[in-house]
Parts: sequence; structure tokens; C-alpha cells
Amino acid sequence: MEYIIGIDLGTSGVKALLIDRNGRVADEAAESYPIYHDENGYSEQDPEDWVRQTKAVLSKIAHKDNLDKANIKGISFSGQMHGLVLLDKEKLPLRRAILWNDTRTSTETKDIAEAAGLERVWEITKNNPLEGFTLPKVLWVKKHEPATFEKADVFLLPKDYVRYRLTGHIGIDFSDAAGTLMLDLNNNEWSEEILETCGVPLDICPPVFPATKACGTLLNEVAEETGCPAETKVFAGGADNACGAVGAGILEQGKTMCSIGTSGVMLTYAGDQKRHFDGKLHFFNHAADNTYYAMGVTLAAGYSLQWFKDTFLKDKKFDEMIKSVTEVPAGSRGLLFTPYIAGERTPHSDAFARGSFIGMDASHTAADFVKAVMEGITFSLKESLDIIEENGMAVDTVIAIGGGAKSREWLQLQADIFGKEVISLKNEQGPAMGAAIIAAYGCGWFSSLQEAARAFVETGDGVKPIEENVEVYQKLFPLYKNVYQQTKDITEALSQFR
Ligand code: XUL
Repeated sequence: MEYIIGIDLGTSGVKALLIDRNGRVADEAAESYPIYHDENGYSEQDPEDWVRQTKAVLSKIAHKDNLDKANIKGISFSGQMHGLVLLDKEKLPLRRAILWNDTRTSTETKDIAEAAGLERVWEITKNNPLEGFTLPKVLWVKKHEPATFEKADVFLLPKDYVRYRLTGHIGIDFSDAAGTLMLDLNNNEWSEEILETCGVPLDICPPVFPATKACGTLLNEVAEETGCPAETKVFAGGADNACGAVGAGILEQGKTMCSIGTSGVMLTYAGDQKRHFDGKLHFFNHAADNTYYAMGVTLAAGYSLQWFKDTFLKDKKFDEMIKSVTEVPAGSRGLLFTPYIAGERTPHSDAFARGSFIGMDASHTAADFVKAVMEGITFSLKESLDIIEENGMAVDTVIAIGGGAKSREWLQLQADIFGKEVISLKNEQGPAMGAAIIAAYGCGWFSSLQEAARAFVETGDGVKPIEENVEVYQKLFPLYKNVYQQTKDITEALSQFR
């Protein structure tokens, strides 16, 4: 049997899946690495940690019992998006990588909007300048660490750096290039206009290519170190959201995915890049050539629930906490939660937004609070779904992935709030499966990425909305939406006390 390996270079760790020609997981391995938060808002990683741990997971897989290593045919990647890896002429990192969840760049996002004009940024890049994106990070280094910036020869994104270290091949794929805010999505090339306006030299931008591009084979020393054959073909790979979508089969018009992990994502396939959403949704290249996706992001989705548990229900098991909400009626008996505990992206692009509980009453129980948190997170994703639909992109069913797909309670809640059937996957593997699908297509096992996804992704049963709950949520949703408007000035004024 032949195999491919899908690697997901995440924020807390790297995961690799060994997948056979039938799409079955034959083995998996994971390793973690630290995040450095040296100052408030800073979030950095050492690129060397990614490389060491990626080699470690490859080595674990290659040494699986009874595996004929020669049958490992291809590798591809999914990667955390937007992170800046700056390299010098020798292609050595000049500093730690600045990650997608680093928020030191509020001034730079304003500078970009002022210099280029917000409308023009939307027209060219299809996105809002957000703290998390790569261009503001480049400008931050230029301003605050000029000596480092002087030495910069090229920048890469996290998975592209790891691929470079495994193959010697420099470049970035379109799905990650789109998240830099430097790509002209109309022409799929670096935007000289944005770069010039912001004072970033074009020559630090790496070559751009499709996520499915063959990027050579493993370097001999990497093959020796890991045990994988030197002939293993390596394919570019894509951004984690693009790969997550591939791994959930979101490769055709009308297909939409709701991922509730630490952050939450509502993502829909787009066949062309003619529109933009006034920055209200992110719009990026997909992993399949000349296709795209639009997505809304709730920054603190599962994170809100984890925060609530860690702060108020430390001794409760996570599953028990979720189960407790079955007794609570839709609407949590008049308690509303907004999940802006780490700022927000969609629909309010506001790093300074903060969350609220509204309507607390002495009779509310812990279970009411848990349900209110789950409802607030799901309402936030419903706001993204509405923007998608208001822009003429039809959504019939939603494929649920992540923590939100693991319990019947949360699937039902999504179905009731979205007012749509919600379907989970039979064997959900996340972005690493998307990376494996890219490698399976690259190795010639299938004639298209779509065909590979159809063969590897199996959907499970659907959960249908319960009409009486849908009615409650339809009444509650406008109240939820009003909370941000009504609390914005108060939370802003409260920032002086933080
Ligand atoms: C997307 C984003 C996150 C990261 C997480 O815009 O910032 O989903 O990709 O790795």
C-alpha cells in the first residue's frame, strides 16, 4: 500500500497524518512547541522549533512498525496563517516569527488604511488591514527594528519556512500569500501599489505558486534524519483554513463550513474573486487553482468556553459542562453573552471590543451561563453566515468541524441558531487531512483536488433545526447584535482600567 503524509503546522504544535490510498489514517504523530508572549499583545515562536518538531513527527511516522518506508510517496502542509518569518541572505531567521495572534500592530493597520485608502486596500487585497495579517508585522519590524529590517532578504510564512528547510525550495503558496495583505487578488501577483505605498521592497517577497505545486523532494540530510525516503515528493500546501476546508470537502459552490476551535470560522467556497465584502469578511485564495473562499472569524469561540470553564468551573469535566446545557431552554432564560473577550474580527473588526454578559438574574445557574456562552459564540458565527448570504452566496447545509462538532448539544444549537441542517464528518482530521489530500492529488492518485476530497472525506448524519428553538433564536438574535453597539463606548472607556 502507498501512503502520503499531511502535516499541519499549528500554533500549539505540529500534527502529521499517514494516509493510505483509501484515505484511511494509518498512523499519526504530534509534537508541541512554546509560544512566547514577552510583552502584552506579543505572540512569537522560534522557527527552529517548528523545524525540529516537524522532523520529529516525520521520524515517528517513518519508524512505524511494519511500514515499508519506500511506500511514503508524498508530503504536503497546512500552516498557521499570517505569521512573519524574516530571513537574511543566508536564509537564516533574523528574529523569532511574529504570529497571527500577535496584536502589537494596531498603529500599522491604521497607517496602511491611511496611506493606501481603505477602499483601495479592499479592491486590491479584498481584505481589511487587520493586526493579525503579515504586512502590518513587516511595517512594525521596519519601524521598531530597523537594523533587522535592513538585513531582510525575503519573508516567508510558517509552513513555507518549514518546507524550505525540508526541500531547499523557497516560495509561498497563493492561499497564504493572500493572508499577507500584499497580494493583488485580482491578478494573483504581489501588489506593487500596496508595497510601494507602504514602503516595502518588492524583492523581499518570495515567489508565489499554487498550493498543489510540486516543490521537489526531501533534502538528503532530512531523509537521513527522519527515515523518510529522499525521493518523497513535497507539495507546496496551503493556509490552515484553506486546508481545513479541503479536509471538509468545501471545494464546490454552495459548500459552507463552520469550524469551532479556539477561534471560530464560517467559511464558504467562491468560484471567482470578482467581489469584496468591504472588509467585512476575509477573502482568500483557496487551495485549488483559481478558486477562493470567503470567511468570517470569531476570535474567541472555543476559547470563550475554555475561559469560562477555567475561571468558574475548574473542577467540572468539559464534557459534563457541555451536557449540563440540555436542561437549559433556548435563550438561556434571558441571559446573553458576546464573545469579544480577545477583541473581534467579524463582523466587528475591532481589536478593542470586549465581551459582556447581559441580563443576569439571581436565578441563573452555572448551566445557564454555559449555554449563554455557547449561544453567544454561535450567534457571532451566524453574523458571518448572514453576511455570506446577504452577498448572494447560497448556503443550504453547513458542515461542522472542530470542537463544536464533537457534541450533539452543540451541533443542535448550531442547527437551531443557523436555521439550517448541520452535518458533521465521520472521520474528521482537520487541516492535516486537507494537506494529505493535496499530496494525494500531487502524487497523481486523483485527477483533481475535488475528486481526491470526494474520495477521502466522509460526511456523517445531519442534525436538523428544531422549529420552536429557531423561533426563539430569531427573536433573540437582534438583541444579541445590539449588545456590541450599546457596549462599545463603555468597553472602550473601561480599557484605561485594564
Ligand atoms: C485566519 C487566522 C487563523 C490562523 C490560525 O485569518 O488568523 O485562523 O490561520 O492558525
